[in-house]
Amino acid sequence: MADLAIIGGTGLTTLEGLAITGREVVNTPYGEASGPVIHGELDGREVLFLPRHGPGHTIPPHRINYRANLWALNAVGAEKVIAVNAVGGISEPMWPGRLAIPDQIIDYTRGRVNTFFDQGNGEVVHIDFTDPYCAELREVMIRAGEAARLDMAGEGTYAATQGPRLESRAEVSALERDGCHLVGMTGMPEAALARELELCYASCCVVANRAAGKGESVITMEEIRHYLHAGMEDVRRLLGQVVGF
Ligand code: HPA
Repeated sequence: MADLAIIGGTGLTTLEGLAITGREVVNTPYGEASGPVIHGELDGREVLFLPRHGPGHTIPPHRINYRANLWALNAVGAEKVIAVNAVGGISEPMWPGRLAIPDQIIDYTRGRVNTFFDQGNGEVVHIDFTDPYCAELREVMIRAGEAARLDMAGEGTYAATQGPRLESRAEVSALERDGCHLVGMTGMPEAALARELELCYASCCVVANRAAGKGESVITMEEIRHYLHAGMEDVRRLLGQVVGF
C-alpha cells in the first residue's frame, strides 16, 4: 500500500509520469476533499496524489477543505506527505523558477478551520509545532534535490497569507521584517493539520514570482504561469528522485 502522498498545488493538478491505477472518493467526517484520492505509480513506486485546488483547479486557497484533504489521505494509508506550494519570493535568493524546502512557517491566515480538535468532546490538544515540517522528509527531499542537481534552497520561512489577492508592497515589507523568505496562501492550516494527524509532512515550494514590491513591475498571472511551468519540471525530477531512494 502506498504510504507516500503528494498534494499538488497551483501548476500541479496532474502529475506528469504518474501511471494512474485508481481514483478513490473518501467520505470524511469533515465533508468533501478537493477530489478523489488518486492512486498511481511514479517511477515504479506506489504513490497517492491529491490536487489541492481540485482536478480542474477551481477551489481558491481560502475555500480548500484542508481537514477533509488530510483526513482522506490519512484514511487511505498516507504516512508521509509532500506538499507542493506555489509561492512568491521575498528574499533575493528566492528567484522565480527556484525550488525551496522551507523549515519554518508564520501563519497570517484568518478564519480558516485549523484543527481537528474542536468537536467539544472534551479533548483539548496542543500539538508541538516548534519545527512545523517533518525533519526526515525534508532531509530526503534536500538529498534528492542535490542528486538531481536542482537549483533549490534548503531552508526558508514560509509566510502563509489569506489570499486570494496577492499582497501589498507594505505587507511584503512587513513579512520580510518578520523574517519570512517565501509567501504563499496554502501552507496553513495544512501543515498543522498534518501534524495533528501525526503525518510526516514537508513542503516543496516553487517560486512563481518575486513577491509584491520585490520585482520590477506588477505581478501577472502570465508570469506566475510561466515560472510555475518551468518549476514543475524540477518538482517532477525531485519527486522521481525521492521515490527512487
Ligand atoms: N503571494 C502569495 N501567494 C503566492 C504568490 C505571492 O506572491 N505567488 C504565488 N502564490
